[in-house]
Amino acid sequence: MERKDFLYEGKAKRIFTTTDPNLVLVDYKDDATAQNGLKKGQIANKGVLNNKISTFFFQLLAQHGIESHFVEMISEREMLVKKLDILQIEVVSRNIAAGSLAKRLGLPEGTKMSRPILEFYYKDDELGDPMINEYHIYALELATAEQVKQISTVALQVNDILTKYLRQRDLLLVDFKLEFGLHQGRVLLGDEISPDTCRFWDANTMEKLDKDRFRRDLGGVEEAYLEIYNRLTGGQPLDEDAK
Ligand code: TMP
Repeated sequence: MERKDFLYEGKAKRIFTTTDPNLVLVDYKDDATAQNGLKKGQIANKGVLNNKISTFFFQLLAQHGIESHFVEMISEREMLVKKLDILQIEVVSRNIAAGSLAKRLGLPEGTKMSRPILEFYYKDDELGDPMINEYHIYALELATAEQVKQISTVALQVNDILTKYLRQRDLLLVDFKLEFGLHQGRVLLGDEISPDTCRFWDANTMEKLDKDRFRRDLGGVEEAYLEIYNRLTGGQPLDEDAK
C-alpha cells in the first residue's frame, strides 16, 4: 500500500491517503515539541523508533484482545492504519505522580497512586488541551456515555497490560495518553503509544526514559528512546523487523 495524497500534518506525524478509502498512512517525523508547541526541536531517529515502538505496543494489545487502528508497519517510518474520526478527547492514565498531576495536586514526583487515575482532556491546541470531566464531554457532545464507558474500560485494560509487560523489562509505566476514534461506527484505539506519549522510568534507578528528557533538557533523549525499543524487543537490530 503506497501513500497517495497528503491529508494532514500534526506535531509528530504526517497523514496520507492511500488507494483504500478506509486506510490512511502515518509517517512518523523526528520533530519534537513541548510546552504546547513553545519548545521545538528534533530528536534523531525518533520517527523510526516511535513507529516501531507503537507497532510493538499495538501488536501486544491485539494479542490481549484490544483493537486499535493499527494494520501494519510498512516501512521504518510508515504505519498503515484504519481511518478514524478522532474523538476530541485525550485520555490520560496515571499510576505514579509526575508532570501536571504532581504540580496540580502538590504531590512529590514518584508518589505511587493507590489505584490508577483516569483523566480526560479536551483536544484543542489553541486552548492547550484543558482538563475536562464527563459533564463537559456530554455538554459539549464530544462523546456519548456509552463511548466514554468504552474508552475508560479500554484505557484501564491498556494500563494493566502495559504495566505488567513493562515491569518484566524493569520499566515502570508512570502515565500515558491515549486517543480514540470512530471507524465504521465502532470506537477504536488510535494515535500512537511511544515515549512521546508515555512516561517510562527504569524500575531500579528511576531514570526517565521518555520525552521528559527533551521537555526538561536532561540530554540523552535519543538514547532513551532506543533503550525503550531495545528493552521491548530484547535488543534486536533496529531494521530487522522493518519490511
Ligand atoms: P502531563 O503530566 O503533562 O499531563 O502528561 C501526562 C501523560 O500524557 C504523559 O505521559 C505525557 C502524555 N501527554 C501527551 O502525550 N500529550 C499531551 O499533549 C500531554 C499534555 C500529555
